[in-house]
Amino acid sequence: MQVKYLGHACFLLVENDTAILVDPFLTSNPVATVKAADVTANYILVSHHHTDHAEDVAEIAQANGATVISTAEIAQHFADLGLTTHAMHIGGKHGFDFGYVRLTPALHGAGIAGGHACGFVINLFGTVIYHAGDTGLFGDMRLIGELEDLDLALLPIGDNFTMGVGDAVRAAALLRAPKVIPMHYNTWSLIKADPQAFKQQVEEETAAEVIILQPGEELEL
Ligand code: NI
Ligand code: MN
Repeated sequence: MQVKYLGHACFLLVENDTAILVDPFLTSNPVATVKAADVTANYILVSHHHTDHAEDVAEIAQANGATVISTAEIAQHFADLGLTTHAMHIGGKHGFDFGYVRLTPALHGAGIAGGHACGFVINLFGTVIYHAGDTGLFGDMRLIGELEDLDLALLPIGDNFTMGVGDAVRAAALLRAPKVIPMHYNTWSLIKADPQAFKQQVEEETAAEVIILQPGEELEL
């Protein structure tokens, strides 16, 4: 499968005829290399309703007839816009034609009244990817790593709104995914972080390999 990094926390996971888009933020993303109109997706996963995760959900879902998957209140917001949605909630797992999605906790705001932020474990035809969403470090990341045989973890390292480099190194140790990609950094100066320092620390302290992707780059898994 292909893991395409579209910048910030936005990833496009593609295998066979299935494309899963996570946290589309392209239109006002200063580091994005593609336009929302050029993205094709069957499913759009939304970790929370902050602009830097949800800006382009409606446009891309509308253009592709994609199903929006999120926590219930955020899914309802998109259903009210006339989009196809699948509401879930934290701790729940649901099977889709490509595999399954499990919603994980995230220590972060929902960006919508009464809602919840989340992360995702995505099983795409047997490859298991954890997208942490925006979150601080929490100890139950160990449990996620025990419940799921992760192939890849996507972790924020930009600090201020989420984990910074040091805490994300701890997260990588708890999750025990063999591959880690840092995200949610260097989009703006406020979340400036050094991905090479993250890579060096993770690779010194854990068995994981860190792959640093620039926006527009992809990893073949
Ligand atoms: Ni956020
Ligand atoms: Mn964010």
